[in-house]
Amino acid sequence: MIDWKTLGFDAYRTRTLAVSHFKDGAWSPAVTTENFSFTLDPFAQTLHYAISCFEGFKTFRQKDGRVAMFRPDQNAARMIRSAKYLGMPYPSEEQFIEMCEMCVRGNMEFLPPYGYGASMYIRPLLFTVHPQMQLVPYPEAIFTVMCAPVGSYYGAYLKSCAAVIPGNYDRAAPKGSGSYKLSSNYATTFVPYQRAHDQGYTELLYLNSATREYVDEFGSSNFYGIRDNTYITPLSDSVLPSVTNKTLRTVAADMGMKVEQRPVPFEELSSFEEAAGCGTAVVITPISHIDVKPVLEEPDIARTFRYGPDGSVGEVSTKLYRQITGIQFGEIEDAHGWCHYIDV
Ligand SMILES: Cc1ncc(COP(=O)(O)O)c(C=O)c1O
Repeated sequence: MIDWKTLGFDAYRTRTLAVSHFKDGAWSPAVTTENFSFTLDPFAQTLHYAISCFEGFKTFRQKDGRVAMFRPDQNAARMIRSAKYLGMPYPSEEQFIEMCEMCVRGNMEFLPPYGYGASMYIRPLLFTVHPQMQLVPYPEAIFTVMCAPVGSYYGAYLKSCAAVIPGNYDRAAPKGSGSYKLSSNYATTFVPYQRAHDQGYTELLYLNSATREYVDEFGSSNFYGIRDNTYITPLSDSVLPSVTNKTLRTVAADMGMKVEQRPVPFEELSSFEEAAGCGTAVVITPISHIDVKPVLEEPDIARTFRYGPDGSVGEVSTKLYRQITGIQFGEIEDAHGWCHYIDV
């Protein structure tokens, strides 16, 4: 029996996966399976060269009992963009959404009921399986969709967190893969994340790696700052185009705020009334302070930016959070048609 109140954000063994196999130029008909084990050739490219990309979005049991996926078309488009960047075969938007629906239908007992703030996280994954050592295109791939019931990523909803700018780590190379959701982008963040967590920081905030003069994004979410009723978020070709951020820009505009998406100079961090991370998992993570550390592993803190009195959660972030989660749970009218309803 799942305790919906205490769910965190973790891999969870549900009942079924949706799977399709690309071979000989075509995708096999998608199936659901209770077999969670893939058999891979040890030379499978994904194991050696990380030829893989993934997505993440949520499905909600709404107030009136309906089941809604939140903006899956955006994730389909982003996965197609990632796959094209890697030169991989990719599912169409229709196949992507259909297989996500199959995954939800095959795991209904794991969809959290309305009223707990919990939801079902959907994780589509695309990887190449052809055994090959050469760096040439890939004739064989697997597209699979799995899911997990989730609560909050950091163990609490809207709890403010500390972040650190690590002077000795970058997330994305200039003109590199930072704006694509590739598995390889995440592989290199595990060590700095662990070191930051060991020092009490929840998030890593990365600057643009070419000049370190601008704010890029957090390791697992986009950045926004609030000042003078304005929602300000970085425009950078190294930042993952977050669906949550895109949604929040519309929500902020709907609430009468000004919205600016533009390069955000590092110095501007000192002028924000509120700062936060935004992404599917966290929705919004308000930031209490950001330490700038020339070397993450050393004790020196060159500078600290603070937000909100005593690290409390800002008024604007609270309003944005209520609005977006209200739409997701069907408590507030979905004026933009973001909810994709599923017959279950
Ligand atoms: C690096 C990074 N940036 C931003 C985001 C937020 O994107 P989205 O709102 O589409 O989940 C994520 C994923 O959640 C991420 O991994």
